[in-house]
Amino acid sequence: MTSPKPRVVLGVSAGIAAYKACELLRRLTESGHDVTVVPTADALRFVGEPTWAALSGKPVSPRVWDGVAEVPHVRLGQQADLVFVAPATADLLAKAAHGLADDLLTNTLLTARCPVVFAPAMHTEMWQHPATQANVATLRARGAVVVEPASGRLTGKDTGPGRLPDPAELFEIARHVLARGAGGRDLAGRHVVVSAGGTREAIDPVRFIGNRSSGLQGYALARTAVARGARVTLVSANVALPDPAGAETVPVGSAEEMRKAVVEAAGSADAVVMAAAVADFRPADYRGSKIKKAEGAEPEPIRLVKNPDILAELGASRRPGQVIVGFAAETDDVLANGRAKLARKGCDLLVVNQVGENLTFGRPDNAATVLGADGSATEVPRGAKEALAEVVWDLVSARLEGPPSGVRQGEGR
Ligand SMILES: Cc1cc2nc3c(=O)[nH]c(=O)nc-3n(C[C@H](O)[C@H](O)[C@H](O)COP(=O)(O)O)c2cc1C
Repeated sequence: MTSPKPRVVLGVSAGIAAYKACELLRRLTESGHDVTVVPTADALRFVGEPTWAALSGKPVSPRVWDGVAEVPHVRLGQQADLVFVAPATADLLAKAAHGLADDLLTNTLLTARCPVVFAPAMHTEMWQHPATQANVATLRARGAVVVEPASGRLTGKDTGPGRLPDPAELFEIARHVLARGAGGRDLAGRHVVVSAGGTREAIDPVRFIGNRSSGLQGYALARTAVARGARVTLVSANVALPDPAGAETVPVGSAEEMRKAVVEAAGSADAVVMAAAVADFRPADYRGSKIKKAEGAEPEPIRLVKNPDILAELGASRRPGQVIVGFAAETDDVLANGRAKLARKGCDLLVVNQVGENLTFGRPDNAATVLGADGSATEVPRGAKEALAEVVWDLVSARLEGPPSGVRQGEGR
């Protein structure tokens, strides 16, 4: 017997990015989801009913007055496994936050008891307006996942935060949220900071000391935290991967830049997960011009100095209730070195993995032991980096105390 297809309601409101929802719809249907598209009346000005009906294989209406015998204004929400609104206009967010129900989509949002995801898209001014931010905070406090918009070119000539993230990235969020089901949004209302990638320490304008970190583990942590409802700041060092949808990505280069960005974001964070490979040392002297090869002479040695220890600084300066997680990449005596590092850095959890030429770096999978300051050790067998990310968030979630930082500070986002 085949298991029934997960039922997804794809809500589409009247943003210029409605065309990108066609791609999301295709990805959902082609991966075995049963999708009903519920556009608003104005959304149909951007993409017409025949497109949605043909791509979903189902009739499409924005009204509660069509097919009344089947009571769609109640049935769709009740039967859905996921309601995903993309794009979510400022207007739609306001209606959802205030419980209005003047069309099929807003009725569906009120009757749904499954996970609900909003992917807002609008001009920066509309997104940053206190009214929109208050509506977003209300929706998040109720457990909805509200994905941070991407930054970039908007409808006109202007740029800024407000773009609908890539459909492929939105699909990943849908997949994660569906996999976790109802109750899976345990990080709703929380702000988490994740660092990813590897820092580069400049020797001269063209050369640097770097490391093999690809950023895959940090990006998996960011993606899974978004799906669990968190507001995510991703501090990313030299990563050649697409920005995960819904996370605010802060690009940095060196350890110094990473320290500044992480410490600043940590000020309002409930948890900080340092998955980045931060260089321990940097060249003492930066050469302002390219070092030349002098004929017949040996190269001058490069003297190194210590970089700031970001993890230790976070451990020492943490706010009450804040959870700090470090990563330790070890080649030898993995667990013993991990325990010593955990004690030294004063963090709550340390993810210890063995690294080497063909282990971990750049691979989609990972295996690790997560050590706790409480003496616990959680073995995570080799599997997708997303699976390890989920375990890390399970352990963080169990250690979070008190109300989320957003609620405590009355923040709008
Ligand atoms: C060309 C054009 C583009 C628009 N793009 C957006 C947008 O990206 N985000 C948004 O919130 N509103 C946008 N609007 C405004 C909404 O369409 C308007 O608020 C509408 O009433 C929203 O209806 P709905 O929320 O019922 O779908 C746009 C309007 C026009 C004419």
